[in-house]
Amino acid sequence: MLRKLFIPLLICTFSYGNGEVLNDSLYLHHHVATIRRTETNRAQFRQSLKKIGEYLAIESMSELETATTNIETPLGTAPHLVCTEEPVLVTILRAGMPLLEGVQEVYPNATVGFFAMARNEKTFVPEVGYIGVPDVQDKCVILVDTMVGTAGSANAAIEDLKKRGAKKIIFLCVMISSEGFENLDPQVKVIAAAVDPILNEKKYLVPGLGDAGDRSYGPKK
Ligand code: PRP
Repeated sequence: MLRKLFIPLLICTFSYGNGEVLNDSLYLHHHVATIRRTETNRAQFRQSLKKIGEYLAIESMSELETATTNIETPLGTAPHLVCTEEPVLVTILRAGMPLLEGVQEVYPNATVGFFAMARNEKTFVPEVGYIGVPDVQDKCVILVDTMVGTAGSANAAIEDLKKRGAKKIIFLCVMISSEGFENLDPQVKVIAAAVDPILNEKKYLVPGLGDAGDRSYGPKK
């Protein structure tokens, strides 16, 4: 009985403040299940993140400016809705990298920026090691990171991007905690693949997937 009730709730996209959780795609469920699974190896893990990135990026296109354009074909004219702005892509190292690769499949010519950040393991506050971001003044930025726990890392990147004059920020992430959703800058549109209910004492998502950076590239020493 519980199972019958749970499945329809599981397979539906739902809104969460200014965010959207794309819960109705079996394709996404397949790849999110793959990255959650303990046995998934590093190559499969990055490959599924890339697939999720591509899917989230396709969804993000509806947030961009569009115009109807008449396309000349060899036999006539066809009206099409096309994107008229090229977003700037920005990711947070390390775990954002495989996701970014998928996003680049959709926006192959976009300029790309990087924040090197790691959460301090005691305070959970992100420490920034390096920022390399192209011009974002008056541009739409698509920020990409795999996990959101406290939202400290995402908010630090968002604050910096706002100071640089970004016109609009769309945040693509795979897994976000309910707490992270509440803490995220409400001006930012969030598109996520899954929301997890628990942040444990080490600020890891539960059930989550462990450490996405380590699972993508190996543990840090
Ligand atoms: C993870 C993740 C996010 C951050 C989320 O990175 O990729 O960037 O933690 O946590 P928060 O929402 O509480 O700030 P981590 O610091 O583990 O670095 P890594 O990607 O190099 O492993």
